Amino acid sequence: MNKRFLQLFAILSISSSVFLAGQELQWDWASIDTDAVRFDKDFIFGTAVSEYQVSGASNCPDAQWAAWDYTKDGNGMSRIHQGQRSGKACDFWNTYEADIELLKEMKVKSFRFSLEWSIIEPRKGVINKAAVKHYHNLMDKLIAADIKPVISLHHFTHPIWFEELGAFEKEENIEYFVGFAQNMANQYKDKVMLWATFNEPGVYVFQGYIRGVWPPGKIGVNRAGQVTQNMLKAHVAAYQAMKKIDEKMQIGLVHSVTQFEPYNDDTKIESTICSYMNHLFHDAITEFFSTGKFVWQVPILASLEYIDTQATKSLDFFGINYYSHVLLNIGWTTGDQAFRLHEIKTDMPYCIYAEGLYRAIKDVSERITVAQCIPIYITENGIADAKDDRRELFIKRYMYSLYRAIQDGYDVRGYFYWSLLDNFEWSEGYSQKFGLYEVDMETGERRLRDGARAFLNIIDKTYQADAPVKAA
Ligand code: BGC
Repeated sequence: MNKRFLQLFAILSISSSVFLAGQELQWDWASIDTDAVRFDKDFIFGTAVSEYQVSGASNCPDAQWAAWDYTKDGNGMSRIHQGQRSGKACDFWNTYEADIELLKEMKVKSFRFSLEWSIIEPRKGVINKAAVKHYHNLMDKLIAADIKPVISLHHFTHPIWFEELGAFEKEENIEYFVGFAQNMANQYKDKVMLWATFNEPGVYVFQGYIRGVWPPGKIGVNRAGQVTQNMLKAHVAAYQAMKKIDEKMQIGLVHSVTQFEPYNDDTKIESTICSYMNHLFHDAITEFFSTGKFVWQVPILASLEYIDTQATKSLDFFGINYYSHVLLNIGWTTGDQAFRLHEIKTDMPYCIYAEGLYRAIKDVSERITVAQCIPIYITENGIADAKDDRRELFIKRYMYSLYRAIQDGYDVRGYFYWSLLDNFEWSEGYSQKFGLYEVDMETGERRLRDGARAFLNIIDKTYQADAPVKAA
C-alpha cells in the first residue's frame, strides 16, 4: 500500500468512521481439521489465468499494457520490478493445447481466461479473424475435455487505440467496450459457462488512477471515481446488450474483496482511513449493485453520486477474487505492510488470512446475492510462494473457509485457483510465483509444484465416484 496515500487520507479524515467495515475474525487453526472438508460433486473447481499475464507483450503487442511495460516513466525508471519485461510470458497463446492437457490431468471442470480485446480488435473497428478462430479452437478443445470456459472480457488490458481515446475516463467510450462485448457474445454464446464483463474494476482504478503504478498512471481521486462509475455503467450496458443476444447467457462481474482493517484502534485514525479505503475499494462497487446508487466521496478530493435503476438487475452471478486483508498500522516502520505476529506472510505484501474468504462470501451474500437470488463464484484465490513452503497450508485453510461458508448456507457454486501457471504479475514482473505449475520462463517447461497437490487432492475427493451429491 502506498504510505503517502494513506497519510494523505489520515490528514483529511477528521471525522470518525462513516463507512462500515466487517469485524476482523480470527479462527483457532490448531483446533480445526482442514482435512475434513468435502464438496458436493456438482461444485465447480477450476483454475484461472489472464491472456496478457500468460502470453505477454510479444503476443499482445497492441495492448495498452505492452506500451506501458516497454517504456520508462518520467524519471527514466522502468515501470516493472527490476526492469523486467513481460516478453512472451508462458507463451500460452501458442502452447494452449499442451496446457489443456495439464488441466485434464488436474481433472478441473472449468478454466477461466480473458479474451484479449487488443488481439481481437487491434485497430478500431478492425477484427482479427484469426484471433476469433483461435479462441474458438481454445474453447472447443476445453469443451471436448469436459472443461467449461469462463470468460473475462476485460482483465486490466485493452487496445492502445482505446487507451488513446481516454478509455473509461470518458463516458462516450463505453460504446466501444459494449460493441466488443456484443461481438464476443455473438461469437461464443454457446460455448461459455460464465461471462465476466470486468475483472476487478476496483484494482484497475486503484493501481492506474490512485497509485499510478499501472497504465495510464494518472493520479487523481476524483478521476478514479469517474473511471469506476464509467466502468460500472459499461457493465450494465454490456449486460443488457448481451442479454438481448441470448437471454440464457450468465453474465456477472468479478470484484476483488480486501478488508482494510485497523491494526490498533486506539486513536481512531487507522479505522477512519480504513473506512475510506473500504468505501472506495469495496463498498462503492457492492452498493452500486445492491442499491443502484454509486457514491464516491472523499473530503476535499472527490464527490460523485450517480443512480442507475438497472444496476440491481444486471448480475446473474457475482465473482469474488479474494487473497487477504490489509492491516493498517500508522506507527509501523518496517517498510512492509503490517501483520499480526501469528500471521504467515506470503511473498506478496500480505499474509495468509483464510478467515477473510468466509467474511467476503458472507458480506457479498448479505449485500447482494441473497436478495437477488444469484450464486457466488470464487473466481480467484491463490498464493505467491516461490519456496513452495506455504502453498499446501494456504490451500487447506482457504478450502476450509470456503467449505465452512457453504456449510453455513451461502450459495457458492465454484472456485478457481489463481493461477494455473507462474505468470507476469503486472508491475511485480516475474517475482511472484502464483502457479500451481512452476514455469521456466526460458525453456517454457512446466512442473507441478508439490504444494499444489493439496488442491488436486480436493478435486479428486470431490469428483470420485462415491462423493456426496448435493441434496435437491
Ligand atoms: C488479478 C490478477 C493477479 C492476482 C494476483 C488479481 O488481483 O486479477 O491479475 O495476478 O490478483 O495478484
